[in-house]
Amino acid sequence: MPGYSVPDRFMHHTFLWGSATSSHQVEGNNVHNDWWSWEQKGAVIEKSGIACDHYRRFNEDFALIRSLGHTAHRFSLEWSRFEPKENQWDERAFDHYGEVFQSLKKNGIEPVVTLHHFTNPVWFHERGGWLKAENNAYFLRYVRRVVETYGKYVKFWITINEPIVYLYYSYLAGEWPPGIKSYRAAWKVFYHLLLAHVQAYRLIHDLYEQKSAKPVYVSLAKHWTEMRPDNPNSIADRVTVFSRDWLFNRLYFDALTSGFLFYPGLFCEYLPLRQSLDFLGINYYTLQRIRSSSKTGEWMGAMVEHAPGADSPVERNQMGWVIHPEGLSSLLKRLRPYHLPVLICENGICAENDEQRVRYIQSHLQAVTSAIADGVSVAGYLYWSLMDNFEWAHGFGPRFGIVEVDYKTLQRKIRPSAYVLTELCRKLMAQP
Ligand code: NOJ
Repeated sequence: MPGYSVPDRFMHHTFLWGSATSSHQVEGNNVHNDWWSWEQKGAVIEKSGIACDHYRRFNEDFALIRSLGHTAHRFSLEWSRFEPKENQWDERAFDHYGEVFQSLKKNGIEPVVTLHHFTNPVWFHERGGWLKAENNAYFLRYVRRVVETYGKYVKFWITINEPIVYLYYSYLAGEWPPGIKSYRAAWKVFYHLLLAHVQAYRLIHDLYEQKSAKPVYVSLAKHWTEMRPDNPNSIADRVTVFSRDWLFNRLYFDALTSGFLFYPGLFCEYLPLRQSLDFLGINYYTLQRIRSSSKTGEWMGAMVEHAPGADSPVERNQMGWVIHPEGLSSLLKRLRPYHLPVLICENGICAENDEQRVRYIQSHLQAVTSAIADGVSVAGYLYWSLMDNFEWAHGFGPRFGIVEVDYKTLQRKIRPSAYVLTELCRKLMAQP
């Protein structure tokens, strides 16, 4: 096929583009996971309930994706559906996701599959969840089952979505289940998730090797935030940005591409594999302004603000995050030294006004197009999200979808921005 095809190890594959979702945010009735219990306790403003009822409407949703011309779709498997009780496996879940894969196949859409997207089975949480190193074995047992079952459909696996965002909200800020606020706990989880990725990476490659020669590409979806010092003349602010950027953005990638985890003064360790990323999965949304702070309760001695300070006025999304497409350009350049293709697993905006979403898509895809022209290897772009959905602690308020969901009738309505995404991605693919 003429047009842009991704260099390096994705050579055989054309640009993957489309949109993304995650099970708990769209499926509805994920009653066996820790988020569901958290919601029932009243810990968040809204309960996910039936969400978008994607669990039952996936055929309709995939037909819609197809009508938009998407070539790929990212979604997550819900561990708590497969294994609602410890070591009790629910065949209905296997059948269900089997139908999901069939439906994607029928519609000619390449699946990009996430194994862990913020939710855990309740029993796993009760066993201590990610705080205990030995619990990684439970995760791997689930990974083995689903990879053995669905490997024939999948080339692209994402082991863990946004590990650091997850551990921040769940183990440091205490805003997500299990609601823990502890540096010690957060550090443990940091390490256990890192290992879980390496272990799952190896397992997936082993399983594919045993069964077939089909290529498989494994990564994680790493949230990446552009960071700026509040006061560029303040050394303290600059040091804080440097350390946060390193911890939040780079440390996982550095460790997973070198096999060496180095945490100055505290820790250094060799991982079981030297290289455990086949591409760099990236979620990019925003810019943060960082001010150093000695206040207790601030993470890593920093005040993080979405306030733009001197650059004001600035455009923001519905949740107040600053819109900053230049951050995507600079991130794509900064990823070059890793010598791996980049798959943008998430990029998007929650907006009440779809024109703002159109501008967001245009400016961010422009950043991708220029980066490709500059020689950055970008494997694909997946907009977050296909449809409006349950935005965790923020409930259903933020509207991220290129497809609008009417939560009363659950009807879907394609927004104009969806067509802009299609037009621009097609253009991008056609470029030499
Ligand atoms: C990243 C997360 O993976 C996703 O679950 C969330 O909805 C979006 N960011 C928007 O906040």
